[in-house]
Amino acid sequence: MSATLTRPAWTNEFEIETIDKLIARHAPHFPTTRLQEPRTLTTPQEFENFYRFRIAGAAHDLYIVQVCSKVIDQIPDPELQLFLSRQIGDDGAHAQFTRQRVWELSGHDPIDKIKQEVQKHWDFMGDLPIRNWLGFMAFELHYELHIVAQLILNSRTATIADPETSKFASQTILPDEAAHRFGVLAWWQSKYDKAAPAQKTEMAAQLLELDEEGQRRRNPYLKEHWQIVHLATGAQIQGLAAVYDAWRKEVLAYFLDLPIAKLPQLVSVNE
Ligand SMILES: [Fe+2]
Ligand SMILES: [Fe+2]
Repeated sequence: MSATLTRPAWTNEFEIETIDKLIARHAPHFPTTRLQEPRTLTTPQEFENFYRFRIAGAAHDLYIVQVCSKVIDQIPDPELQLFLSRQIGDDGAHAQFTRQRVWELSGHDPIDKIKQEVQKHWDFMGDLPIRNWLGFMAFELHYELHIVAQLILNSRTATIADPETSKFASQTILPDEAAHRFGVLAWWQSKYDKAAPAQKTEMAAQLLELDEEGQRRRNPYLKEHWQIVHLATGAQIQGLAAVYDAWRKEVLAYFLDLPIAKLPQLVSVNE
């Protein structure tokens, strides 16, 4: 495996440029900017759909908190521990905001439903996130990096929103999540870029295998989740799978410092 040697810096701009390039190639019906200002929730059904969508969001964040909390004590690397302490704090705050917003709007604390949804993540992911450090890296890739193109396209095409949630997302969640992506990448590079060539080849092969396992484990959830997003926000999900697959390839190629063409055939979200 040979290195590309010319990786651009991973920045927000690089993410957007890459996603726009993938849209043009795989799903040109998606817009490159937000289509319209979403309208607010109105009917009782819209509120119900919104609660389901936000409970799933809170569960995603709380699951991250639970996984990272287990790992922080298992991998005795101070660099990783400092990063994870931030990720745990941030994603915990995202889950808590979301829980309280649903509580405020619905009059009911959704914590039991959030707990049930978190359990589903544990069930379908199995021990992958806590099996070894590369399994944990595959978990971070799936829960922080691979979903980014989908999240951006959802926000560009959403037609219904809760303004309080949108404000918290743009002011707090977006910058936090960018920091999480940069942190995951920095930690990975601190190991990978220093490894000897033979060790690098081995690490790359193992990470790819674990990431593929993660994809197979997450496929049914992702397809169901996109329906929930579509129902709640009106976001367009047709053609999302092709962009998701292509974005995941870009992420893996960047992390492994390989040209896309050198990656093996990967599991699709549609499988
Ligand atoms: Fe989060
Ligand atoms: Fe995060």
